[in-house]
Amino acid sequence: MQKIIAELEDKRAQARLGGGQRRIDTQHSKGKLTARERLDVLLDPGSFEEYDMFVTHRATDFGMAETIIPGDGVVTGWGTIEGRLVYVFSQDFTVFGGSLSETHAKKICKIMDLALQNGAPVIGLNDSGGARIQEGVASLGGYADVFWRNVQASGAVPQISVIMGPCAGGAVYSPAMTDFIYMVRDTSYMFVTGPDVVKTVTNETVTQEELGGASTHTKISSVADAAFENDIETLLEVRRLFSFLPLAAGQKPPRRPTHEPIVRDDASLDTIIPDSANKPYDMREVIEKVADEGDFLELQKDHAGNILIGFIRLDGETVGVVANQPLVLAGCLDINASKKAARFIRFCDSFEIPILTLVDVPGFLPGVAQEYGGIIKHGAKLLFAYAEATVPLVTVITRKAYGGAYDVMASKHIKADVNYAWPSAEIAVMGAKGATEILYRSELGDKDKIAQRTADYEARFANPFVAAERGFIDDVIMPHGTRRRVIRAFSTLRHKTHSMPKKKHDNIPL
Ligand code: COA
Repeated sequence: MQKIIAELEDKRAQARLGGGQRRIDTQHSKGKLTARERLDVLLDPGSFEEYDMFVTHRATDFGMAETIIPGDGVVTGWGTIEGRLVYVFSQDFTVFGGSLSETHAKKICKIMDLALQNGAPVIGLNDSGGARIQEGVASLGGYADVFWRNVQASGAVPQISVIMGPCAGGAVYSPAMTDFIYMVRDTSYMFVTGPDVVKTVTNETVTQEELGGASTHTKISSVADAAFENDIETLLEVRRLFSFLPLAAGQKPPRRPTHEPIVRDDASLDTIIPDSANKPYDMREVIEKVADEGDFLELQKDHAGNILIGFIRLDGETVGVVANQPLVLAGCLDINASKKAARFIRFCDSFEIPILTLVDVPGFLPGVAQEYGGIIKHGAKLLFAYAEATVPLVTVITRKAYGGAYDVMASKHIKADVNYAWPSAEIAVMGAKGATEILYRSELGDKDKIAQRTADYEARFANPFVAAERGFIDDVIMPHGTRRRVIRAFSTLRHKTHSMPKKKHDNIPL
């Protein structure tokens, strides 16, 4: 028996060495951790249970029969984060460049199936040269098996992808279909076709980093939700994100006990709105002043800065926040902002996360580029996402809520549950200046008259009371009491019920 146990230990040790010490050293020299070291950082100490450590590929072509490495380039299993179950896979770049073979894919599929069966999230750590070239279509089939499961799991269990090395070609489409993508700066990249192919086809010269690095995907393409300096920081941030999420659809996110009182009036909110309507202020400050411990996990912060999205806790409960940001493009809604917020709202709605919407929006961004780019279709995504959401929706209008954007931003009319406005709110079809210029075009030559007309319009509409008179706003609240009021509003919605018309699924404008 002793001998058999020793043999098992040897086999395990061999599997843990992956592609060997030389390749591990190369991995470290690039500033990257190995697949197993990454899992050590991601999961609670000692919680990882590995599956399929002894799985090997079955390829024989191109001398593959002689190069068999147990585990086949991916470490899979389950562990816990803050004591909560999570299924994981971590691609091992030291084994055939982390490339995906038929059996490598089968290992990933196994833990995805278990995650779905047992109601727990999947976190994938990607570091791979793509399809295992020696295996051809068997490997491509393996990708498709993973893609199919990504779609089955979507909306059922949260899926998080962490890009920690190459992720190219078809490989990008598995992360693309998960809920969140985090990247590591300088050592990870994602693209459908690499710089060499781009050069051949379009004659564009571009580096790997420019084409698909973390900066590109967090700022320009919005493929990634966040990027961090190194493997450790990134994985710790994934733990933080995980702490806000439920394990599966139909379950509540964990409640984090807080020492913060519900009543924590903040007098500075009474003066945060500048005297001039054209002056911006930082909506992030409002979010932080309302949140437990001022803790705001912001997503996509370098993309479409005119809208803010992310998670906070209110009295210990996870809440998704969507907020116009007057500091960027005056908080206008444009194509990118609409897409960014719409997808986030749909995530929250899938996983029973209530949504707090903070509104200061002068309207949709005008312009030929926006119209040609399809702002009608993309803006509709945001409207659609809010209107189909059945989770508790609480809205606070801090200043402007103009035109169609008023309707879109979780208004009462599209079934937000509780709608508040600060006394500084202006709910109108448009700003006073624009409105009088249209209504009194014939008087435009007379400055005094126009000034009077503008003042009249402001007095009538630049306030929340016309909406409040109709019940579109449930109450005009003191800015300093916002935290208390929204927490109390959400507390009434805990057991919110809803019914939906019978249908297979809706048809959101894509
Ligand atoms: N299939 C099989 N083996 C692969 C592989 C793949 N797709 N990608 C990388 N490898 C192997 C390499 O042969 C090398 O093996 P070795 O250690 O025995 O020499 C090892 O993984 C590391 O690759 P290497 O090229 O030395 O690493 P790098 O950091 O210089 O480059 C890549 C990484 C991903 C840019 C490069 O390996 C690459 O271009 N791979 C092919 C990508 C591709 O076209 N995939 C198929 C389409 S999805």
